[in-house]
Formats: sequence, C-alpha cells, structure tokens
Amino acid sequence: MTLDPEPIYDIEKTYIENAEQGPFFNGQIPKRTRHEKYNFLGIEVSSRIGVFAGPLLNSKWIKLAAELGYDILTYKTIRSSEHAGHPLPNIVYINSENPLNPLRLPNQVVSSELEPPLQNLGITNSFGMPSRSSDYLHHDIPLSMKALSKGQALIVSITGTPGQEYSKTGYIQDFVRAARLAETAGAPIIEANFSCPNVSKDEGSLYLHPESAFEVASAIVAAISKPLIIKVGHFPDKTILRKTLVALTCAGVKAVAGINSVSLKVVNEDGEPALGKGRLTSGICGAPIRECALEFVTDAKYIIANEKLNLTLIGGGGIMEPSHFEDFFNAGADFAFVATGMMWDPYLAHRYQEAYANLRS
Ligand SMILES: Cc1cc2nc3c(=O)[nH]c(=O)nc-3n(C[C@H](O)[C@H](O)[C@H](O)COP(=O)(O)O)c2cc1C
Repeated sequence: MTLDPEPIYDIEKTYIENAEQGPFFNGQIPKRTRHEKYNFLGIEVSSRIGVFAGPLLNSKWIKLAAELGYDILTYKTIRSSEHAGHPLPNIVYINSENPLNPLRLPNQVVSSELEPPLQNLGITNSFGMPSRSSDYLHHDIPLSMKALSKGQALIVSITGTPGQEYSKTGYIQDFVRAARLAETAGAPIIEANFSCPNVSKDEGSLYLHPESAFEVASAIVAAISKPLIIKVGHFPDKTILRKTLVALTCAGVKAVAGINSVSLKVVNEDGEPALGKGRLTSGICGAPIRECALEFVTDAKYIIANEKLNLTLIGGGGIMEPSHFEDFFNAGADFAFVATGMMWDPYLAHRYQEAYANLRS
C-alpha cells in the first residue's frame, strides 16, 4: 500500500467549500495494528496522539481523522452563533528554512508563493473563526460522536465573541453560551480557546492575563458538567505562564493545550501584508513553531510538577514527522496534538503508530 502524503485541505477554496466538498482524500485507509490504553480526562483512548482545533471542520473531517488513527479529535472552534469568518486567502505559505527562536521572535516573517517541503512546511492561517448555526451544530456534533471508534475521544473547541460594544460581563457570558451549546449538542469534553492570534487584542490574548483567564474559566466550569481544557499560546514571560497555570487550576480546569499558532506580522516579498489589507498580523503554524512549542511544554511540565497542579498537559506545534510526537512526550506532554502536519500528511498518525507504538509493545 502506498501512503504518499497528499494535502486534504485545498487552500484555494473557501472554508465553506472545504467543509462541504472536503476532506480531499483519495488514499487508502491503512489497517490499524496497535491499540494501547490511556486515560484522557476520564475517557479510555488507544494512543496519546490527537488533532488540534482547526483542521477538522465538521463530522466528515472527524470521521476521516478517526479512521486514519488519530484518537483524540478536536472539532473546529465554534461560537455561540453563526459567524462568517474572513474571505480568501485563509492560508499562505511561509518562507521558513529557519525555525522561530522562542527567545527572539522576529518582527515579521515573509510569505512564499511556493509550497515548502513537508519537513519545514510553515503556513499562516487567518480564518476569523467562522462558525455554523446552532441547528447545524446540534446535528453535526452527534454525527462526529458516531464517527468515533472505541478508544477515541471528541473535544469541541469553543470561543466567546465580544459584542459590538465590548463589556467584560458580556464577553464572559458569550463564552458560557458557546460552552453550553457544545455541551447540549453532545460534546463529552470542551476546550475554550483563550489564544486566538487573528482577532483583536483583548479577545485573542486572554491566556496572557491570569486574572481574566481565571474569571472566564471559572464561569465556564460553573456552567458545564464536562471536563474543560484551555487552549493557550506562546508565553514570552514564564512568570505569566506560572500564574496562568495556577489560575486555571484554581478555576477547576482539567487540562491545558498549547501552543496555538504564533502571532506575527506576515508580509509578501514586496513588503505588503501577505493576507491583504487590514490583516497584517496572523498566526504562524507548522514546522517553524516547533521550538516555541517544545519550550512551552518543557516549562509548563516543570511548573505543573513544581506547583503540584492537577493538570493534564497537551502539547503540540510543528509536528511534521512521527519522531516529533516523541519529542513532545520526552519534553513532558501527556498527549501530543498536530494540526498543519496532518493536513499535509494525513498518514502521520499511522506512521507514528507503526514506528513508535510497536517499540513499546
Ligand atoms: C487551518 C488551521 C486552522 C486553525 N483553527 C484553529 C481554531 O479554530 N481554534 C484553535 O484553537 N486553533 C486553531 N488553529 C491552531 C491549531 O490548533 C494549533 O494550535 C497550531 O496550528 C499549532 O499546531 P501545528 O503547528 O501542528 O499546526 C488552527 C490551525 C490551522 C493550521
């Protein structure tokens, strides 16, 4: 059986076209030979690898990822009500032979017309977090649950939407509405995105404000009966990382997942915003952010152990090859998730299980 990596997302098409016509997968589903047993927030799963929020647009995408051997599947971030998101382009390649240095992030990165080779594939994505209607989600989240096999778990990612006139209470209430929507639609685990790099500053960087993170997380925990994960981004300051992890634990959060894409200015070779006017800053993901992500996992693991925090640690960012999952486990992640890598190489989970799960048997 040939297992050639082929992209399953078409970057020339809109988010809705990808959702309705995709995933674009013409390969074969490899036979699964390894099933291990791990406890993921109360659900038994067959491996420690999963897919981050983003690539899995609806139940069709969840079904494919589950069949390909990713065992923890995150449903793309939803809002409390329908939201259109940004027009094309939504994804642009990044010229990225050198990884980003977490201690010295550049002022900007340059986009590339050409698709980089898989091992150093970097992209920037800017979707504006589109979301389907409540009716659609009440139909599609149960279909996603049905698409899972034994040993697999679903997470539904949510975010809050600040109203036209920003008020903190309104913002918190909207996070709660989105979390309740996910729960009533059947989500067994909920992840709240506290780190969207493509939205206005206040909305995007909750994870860098431990007191606000505590308030929002506490309100969500009080409103749902399912485990809550918080998605965080790159922390330029380790003191803030410590405070945020302690605050989230005190709020009753069960896990943290990081990192989200790294927010930077992206310009084309002429120095113009690569995604078009008004969208100069966007999130970088894929190979260039692996060092930033590994640094987050190493620091977070140390703090969790040191402060004796009861938090599960989900790590990922820049996983492009099977060995990279192991790098995250060695750095201290309990579970390792991938986004960009699985969109361009859907067989990553299978190749990981063949190479590494067998080593432990
Ligand atoms: C196409 C795409 C869409 C994404 N959308 C979301 C999203 O809706 N919510 C979220 O929390 N993260 C989103 N992300 C960020 C990923 O969850 C992940 O944190 C980031 O891409 C780093 O992982 P990677 O290097 O494996 O891509 C998205 C990433 C990609 C590539």
